[in-house]
Amino acid sequence: MATPIVPVDTLSESDAADELTRLADEIAAHDLAYRDEAPVISDAEYDALRRRNNEIEARFPHLVRENSPNLRVGANRAEKFSPVEHGVPMLSLDNAFSDDEALEFDARVRRFLKLEEAVAYTAEPKIDGLSASLRYEKGVLVQGATRGDGRTGEDVTENLRTLAEIPGRLKGAGFPDVIEVRGEVYLGHEEFAKLNAGAVAAGQKTYANPRNAASGSLRQLDTAITAARPLRFFAYAWGRISAPFAKTQGEALDLLRAWGFQVTPQTQQVTGVEGLLAAYRDMEAMRPKLAFDIDGVVYKVDRLDWQERLGFITRTPRWAIARKFPAQQARTRLNAIDLQVGRTGAITPVARLQPITVGGVTVENATLHNGDEIARKDIRVGDMVIIQRAGDVIPQVLGPVLEERQEGSQPFEFPTYCPCYLKTPLARETTSGGAETVVRRCTGEFACPFQRVEHLMHFVSRRAYDIEGLGEKQIAAFYEEGLVKEPADIFRLARNETALAELRTRDGYGETSVTNLVAGIEARRAIALDRFIFGLGIRHVGETTAMTLARGYGSLEAFLAAMDKVAKDDAEAIEELDALDQIGIAVVEAAKTYFGEDHNRRIVADLVAELTVQDAEKPKTDTAVAGKTVVFTGALERLTRDEAKAQAERLGAKVSGSVSKKTDIVVAGPGAGSKLKAATELGIQVLTEDEWITLVGG
Ligand code: IVH
Repeated sequence: MATPIVPVDTLSESDAADELTRLADEIAAHDLAYRDEAPVISDAEYDALRRRNNEIEARFPHLVRENSPNLRVGANRAEKFSPVEHGVPMLSLDNAFSDDEALEFDARVRRFLKLEEAVAYTAEPKIDGLSASLRYEKGVLVQGATRGDGRTGEDVTENLRTLAEIPGRLKGAGFPDVIEVRGEVYLGHEEFAKLNAGAVAAGQKTYANPRNAASGSLRQLDTAITAARPLRFFAYAWGRISAPFAKTQGEALDLLRAWGFQVTPQTQQVTGVEGLLAAYRDMEAMRPKLAFDIDGVVYKVDRLDWQERLGFITRTPRWAIARKFPAQQARTRLNAIDLQVGRTGAITPVARLQPITVGGVTVENATLHNGDEIARKDIRVGDMVIIQRAGDVIPQVLGPVLEERQEGSQPFEFPTYCPCYLKTPLARETTSGGAETVVRRCTGEFACPFQRVEHLMHFVSRRAYDIEGLGEKQIAAFYEEGLVKEPADIFRLARNETALAELRTRDGYGETSVTNLVAGIEARRAIALDRFIFGLGIRHVGETTAMTLARGYGSLEAFLAAMDKVAKDDAEAIEELDALDQIGIAVVEAAKTYFGEDHNRRIVADLVAELTVQDAEKPKTDTAVAGKTVVFTGALERLTRDEAKAQAERLGAKVSGSVSKKTDIVVAGPGAGSKLKAATELGIQVLTEDEWITLVGG
């Protein structure tokens, strides 16, 4: 049976603490996956995790973790582009999932404005891309940014300039001196299909959907890559303006079109609730015929003076709402249940389905999550099942259609051994407290070929070695052929003239791609210590932990020597590891297991022989704030939060999100509240932003 979700008001304190620990990790992992355009859960599931976290934190404020999802800064932003503070925040929209909720939206608008009459709205397709803000000064495009966290985005001006549908200079006249035009960058269905076909041919990773492809294409450090992608743009809103330019949303859209933007031709002007509902039905009917993805309809109060009066509720406007299309479902036959083995041996049961089209996409495989889910829903091979596809999420099996169950069908018996040829036993994973979880794991570690391939894929992935020309498909093929069995083989391949000569003669390979591959591999022979550690694929060691370890030990030699001792259960070494910020028992145990295995140690040694691993920057110890714990609270005016945090860390300080006895300095800006109060009560040094800047030397 799956663990039932305990209502927050009956959670014990220790369970709450455990759950907050788990949620912090889980949410952080989803943030990273989302940032890398590879989300594994739906927005709704993600929101549910955040909500659960917030409810628990609200009931047990003293358990709020330093790595609470609410305290991490800029989780959604990549570090590679410079930050741009939006003149006016880029908000998101509240969602409506039913006619009733749409009616409630209209009622709220009228109640707020004390109106009897029917309200005029625009109903616009909700384009499924990523939003961007374009700043025009005197009609000239001066800056373009992504949404980021809504307040600060990424500066992608040069990339946005390459879009044919983004004018470098506004046409006509009558535009305000300063205007931030906002809209959606997206990729059409056809362009998306072409892009992915090209990626398959080149052995590169494909994008899960047009939205991820658009986002990945826009956020390229090499502008030439963005330019080569046929990105498009629809304008539908604006941020800062130096002067009002329209009286209604409809008029504003007309002007945006006149100034040279594309606006969605499907937008309708409607009145009252009947209008709202009819526009939704229209758009739903149009959806399959559109050349781009839409995921709902955006209703906006047409009159801008009313929009102004309605204003905002924290992050969403009261004058607009997104009526979302429901997740798409279909029924099909479950032909088989296979087990998939992940890099760390975690087993995911996968449904092999009679192929079926759901929302224009053919679905043949769907996730069954875990063995407990299969048992709970009593899903059997041969059943007709309901599958669901929501946005970009991996399709999932919701459950069987019991009325159509075939006679003689048998409950699914979860295999007790790994599908690899070794047939190693599967074991249920336990938490550090010893409780069984729903995850089953192959105990074969690196001996298991599935785990090896997954490990190699992890090794070459973008956040690890990121080897140009060596994507998941390629590495899987190389493994299959015996060319690459472990990480060191990749580097050996680059100087194996016989193998390279053979590759050159292959179909779809040729001279250039082999030269590029070799160059890509050679470029990674020198690798930063944190990437090296991340690439090892030690359980529980994600990017952040890898960075912590790298900074903590400083050099490869120090790291390996320490791990050697940890594996031998050396108390001092374990204590030293455990003492590193954010490193807990899970990592200690994982390190012990990993480096306790001869096979792993040999693999690491062989890899090291191929590489030059660069030392990590040790935290500074000779600055005014070295070793101190700093909390930033309230608004900062000269620095962004990210800058302040990065600067503090560079100077050897630790930045924390909550004030405790361990805090040394609180930097409080305007609007500081409970944290400032706590600091004063605890007698902690409180600085203004200016004082902080002086302290750290400008
Ligand atoms: S208006 C203050 N209009 O949906 C409201 N957004 O969930 C600003 N989107 O971040 C947004 N089509 O990326 C608006 N016609 C449309 C839209 C639209 C797509 C996206 C946009 C926004 C998200 C909100």
